[in-house]
Amino acid sequence: MSEKQVVTFRVEDRIAWVNFARPEKRNAMSPTLNRRMMEVLDELEYRDDVGVLVLGGEGAAWSAGMDLKEYFRETEAQGLRGVRKSQRESYGWFRRLRWYQKPTIAMVNGWCFGGGFGPLFSCDLAICADEAKFGLSEINWGILPGGGVTKVVVDLLPMRDAMWLTLTGELIDGQQAAAMRLVNESVPLERLEARVREVAAILLQKNPVALKFAKDAVRRVGAMTYDEAEDYLVRMQEAANFHDPSEGRKEGIRQFIDEKSYKPGLGAYDQSKVSA
Ligand code: COA
Repeated sequence: MSEKQVVTFRVEDRIAWVNFARPEKRNAMSPTLNRRMMEVLDELEYRDDVGVLVLGGEGAAWSAGMDLKEYFRETEAQGLRGVRKSQRESYGWFRRLRWYQKPTIAMVNGWCFGGGFGPLFSCDLAICADEAKFGLSEINWGILPGGGVTKVVVDLLPMRDAMWLTLTGELIDGQQAAAMRLVNESVPLERLEARVREVAAILLQKNPVALKFAKDAVRRVGAMTYDEAEDYLVRMQEAANFHDPSEGRKEGIRQFIDEKSYKPGLGAYDQSKVSA
């Protein structure tokens, strides 16, 4: 299979639909896939016709995690140089996605194992199918959840849930994942894409500069003291002002206070009225 086919993407109505595309291997992440994913993310990140990125999977899986043959066994056979290279490639695109310019949604249609928790966490929001199955299978084949995965579950879940998944390797379904807050919502598979479109539509109405600064702030402040966070957020809003040529916050106030055309408590201001 050519490198290009292991990830598919299309842009439609300002949504970039990016898919893991090795369905015959349950979308396991091989070095080839990891390299290609970075290229695709790179290509889409600053396009004006992309407002939201959705990461899905073709076939029965979202991703069965790292490819045990190509990512682990074959790179180990190349020695430390090969191992470190493949780690850089996978961690590299996970990191790129965590700090992506556009808001991102994981659309988890099926299997999500082990290393798959990396991109799951990288996406800002996550909607899954009730039929999806999540598991930290690492313990089942004799390793700990590495590649950031243990950190991901500890950041996302209470300790008992993180420990349960880590030590038992037991599966949970979409509804359980939503109850645990591993994902935002779970819906029947047949509704999954429609629900993701609805959520994307909400994001597309917002000021894109505000979205980028807000999502970064949510990820950053967790590791800060209160005073550090307070200071950081003041500086970030000032930086956002600098990056927003439309002066969106002033327009947002104007449309509410002067024009009385919308209520911020009930939805976003009309970006089409902004001239910049
Ligand atoms: N790495 C490498 N190959 C994988 C893989 C992975 N993580 N997950 C699936 N595959 C391959 C299988 O080896 C098989 O290849 P083959 O057709 O050449 O024999 C193919 O994908 C289909 O997998 P199969 O196991 O037959 O599909 P299934 O639908 O019966 O089961 C899973 C799906 C996901 C439950 C099962 O494939 C599995 O347990 N995968 C490993 C999950 C895992 O531990 N991931 C964590 C890695 S950190």
